[in-house]
Order: sequence, then C-alpha cells, then structure tokens
Amino acid sequence: TPYIKNLQIDKSKFLEPSPIIQQRCQELIIDDKTTLKLMDLVLHEVNRGLSKKENKDADIKCYVTYIQDLPNGKERGKFLALDLGGTNFRVLIIHLKGENDFEMQSKIYAVPQNIMLGSGEQLFDHIAECLANFMREHNVYAERLPLGFTFSFPLLQLGLTKGLLVRWTKGFNCEGVVGEDVVQLLKDAIARRGDVQIDVCAILNDTTGTLMSCAWKNHNCKIGLIVGTGSNACYVEKIKNVENWDGPPSDKTHVLINTEWGAFGDNGVLDFIRTEYDREIDENSINRGKQIQEKMISGMYMGELARLVIYKFTKEGLLFNGVDSESLRKRFLFFTKYVSEIESDKPGNYTNCMQVMDELGLTNVTEQDCANVRYICECVSSRAAHLVSAGIAALINKMDEPSVTVGVDGSVYRFHPKFHDLMMKRIRQFVKPEISFDLMLSEDGSGRGAALVAAVACREEGRV
Ligand code: GLC
Repeated sequence: TPYIKNLQIDKSKFLEPSPIIQQRCQELIIDDKTTLKLMDLVLHEVNRGLSKKENKDADIKCYVTYIQDLPNGKERGKFLALDLGGTNFRVLIIHLKGENDFEMQSKIYAVPQNIMLGSGEQLFDHIAECLANFMREHNVYAERLPLGFTFSFPLLQLGLTKGLLVRWTKGFNCEGVVGEDVVQLLKDAIARRGDVQIDVCAILNDTTGTLMSCAWKNHNCKIGLIVGTGSNACYVEKIKNVENWDGPPSDKTHVLINTEWGAFGDNGVLDFIRTEYDREIDENSINRGKQIQEKMISGMYMGELARLVIYKFTKEGLLFNGVDSESLRKRFLFFTKYVSEIESDKPGNYTNCMQVMDELGLTNVTEQDCANVRYICECVSSRAAHLVSAGIAALINKMDEPSVTVGVDGSVYRFHPKFHDLMMKRIRQFVKPEISFDLMLSEDGSGRGAALVAAVACREEGRV
C-alpha cells in the first residue's frame, strides 16, 4: 500500500493527537463531575421506575422478572434454550450435570433483515422452524424438553412464562408483537407446525441470563450487565422496594429487576451531554427518540458514532487532507469492531488502524491521521464505558451490600481492549469505599443462563 511510505513511526510511543482534534472531541468526555450527576440521575430514575405512582413517567422502567431464586449449583437435566435479541439468533441444548459441569451445543441461525422488519408471525414461524431443525439434528425431535427463552427486549412480565413486549429495540421492528405475550406467540408457532413438543419454563432477558450464569459459580453475583448490540442491566432488589410488583404476594425477600436502562434519556435528561453525532444517530434510527442512552453506548451504534465524527472532521479538512472516501460517507460501514481493532494497536505501530483505513478506501493517510483517528475512537468508547460505569456505580451504591460481583457479557465488553479496565477504574472511584466489587466476564449468559432459569423454575415446580 503506497501510503504506508508516509508513515514515520516512532517505535516507542503513540503520537499525540492534534490539539484541534482534542479540542473538538472535548464534548465526548465524561469527567468526574458529570459522572456524579449521571449517578444521581440514574438513581432517581431507577427509584421512579420502582415506584407504583411514578413508574409510568419513568425512563428506567425497572421491570419485575419474577426470578427470585438464584441457582444453587444443584440444577441438573437437559434443557433447550432460544436466544433472540443479540447479533445472532441461537438455539441451544444444554445438559447440566453437576456443579460447574455442563455440556452445551448450539447453532447460530441468521435472522434476515426482512424477518427483523417483517410480521411477528413470520418471525415466530422462523424461530419454530430453526428449533425443530435443531431438535432433529440433535436427536431430541421426539422428546418433550423444558425450554428457557432469552428474549432480549423490554417485557412487561406477568409471571415467569408470560411477558408482553413493550417495544422493540435495536434492529427489530416486527409488526403485531408489541403488547402481545411472546411466550404465547412462540407456542402458537410451534403448534402451527405440530411436529415438536416443548415446555416453555421461563422467558428471560439476556442481562438476567448473564447474572444467573455467573451466580451459578459466584454467589456474590448480583448484577447482570450487557454491553453488546444493546446495553442494559439487571440487579437483585429487595421486594420491599419493589412497589411496581403486580404478581401474587411473594414470601421471598428479593427479586431480579430488569432495569431496561437503555431507555434512560428518552425524556431529555441526557441532553446536556448529547452531541450532534448522537442526534444524527437518533434521527436516522428506526426508533427515533427512544433508547437514547443505548444509542450512546452500545455496539449497534459505536462504530457509526466514530464514523460521524471522522467524516465531519474530514469534510472540515482536519483529517486525510480533506479527502474522504465512498465508504466513509456510507452509514454503518465503519464497523464497531474497527474501534476495538484500532485501539488494540500497540505504541509505535498503527497496523490495525492502517488496515481499517485501507478497508475504507482512504488514501493519503498520515501517521498524524492515525493518531487522530485512534483518539476519536478512544473518546467514543471511553464515553460509553464511563456512561455504563455511572449506571453500575449507582446500582452498587443503592444495593448497599458489602460485596457485589457484576456478571458482564456482550461484544463491546468482550472485544474492546480497554473497556473492562476503564470500567473498573471509574466504578472504583465512585462506589462507596467500604464496598468491594468485581466485574466478571459471564460465559454465555443467554444460553446457559436460560437453561439455569428454566432449571430453577422447574426446581420450584418440583419437576427436576
Ligand atoms: C436492549 C433491550 C434489552 C437488552 C439489551 C441488551 O436494550 O431492550 O432488553 O437487555 O438490549 O441486549
């Protein structure tokens, strides 16, 4: 590649980003004072969500999950699981054999765009078809197995196996599902086929699955967090604080709350930190005005945010000598994984960055451009990490337990080289000093977590 010749690389350190770039990116930085303010806002909104009176106006709705028992390690048996709502749709079969001993097989199925934006009936027929094929391939076609359904969208749950979809988020928008019980829609689709039999034992969110999957090993795990295609958290709350509980009275002391904090900011409270890039993302989205915080954090939008900044600076002549490329002009062609790749370069080399610039068809890229692009990516990803940290710190302080482990999953957390460290640092800074906390990568929460929730539900019913 010809432009590599332009690079004069000092092998020992990164070049400083240009002062003008630093100055223009200032609005993306979340400092300590802003963090404190965000923590207050999150806490306020969570409390409003939990309150019977204020719930309808709250942005963080705090949905009751009806999951009250964490796994105790004794769960056993064979379970099916469905996982819808991340980048992929998956079907899994999980065999829980003993404490920390399990076998799992899974298959990823595409959910084509026309189905993501088609009718609900089409979507659930597709799910049922994948499930039936999977059961056939795994020789359980004729068995009646318990199933956990990870459905990662806001659900108003009326019990463990009944949940009405409140709104679609991320890239989905299927007609005729909002307001409906999605467990029923799944059962109907299976009945329409008439060939397989399943027992839906539980419907859950991916954050819940993540928490459960971690809690199986680590009994301190009381928060589940996803920073992936979307962003959301769930946590263990005392029943006495859960005014919005609509189920039959419970003799248990705690329940898992799915905060759905992606909707934080829908009422405008985040406008003081939103930028023109955030507004542009929102305006071009299929859910305008909704999921405002999610659009500032999650993997579905992170690359696009970086692209908008880079494109704007290029048009102003601050990058690439003012010369853009066709790909840089096109929405969503700056993938979120680019942000992680660019930030993974080690000092003194811009290999990944150059590779990305090459993929985007950008020529005449100088070393200074690389330093600047890297800085822009850092600002966008650090902002996301700091927003998430403010939310987690607010939850940990609210829970007031001596020790809390946060189970985390999602592509951004998993693949970004610094997300974990940024979060650890920021959360430590703002959590009460006497509380110890940890962030633990959850191994396949949406899959294994779904099996565990199903197992715990079956345990409650005395079936397993
Ligand atoms: C979106 C969904 C939420 C899910 C999150 C992460 O915010 O509404 O239910 O947990 O994405 O996948």
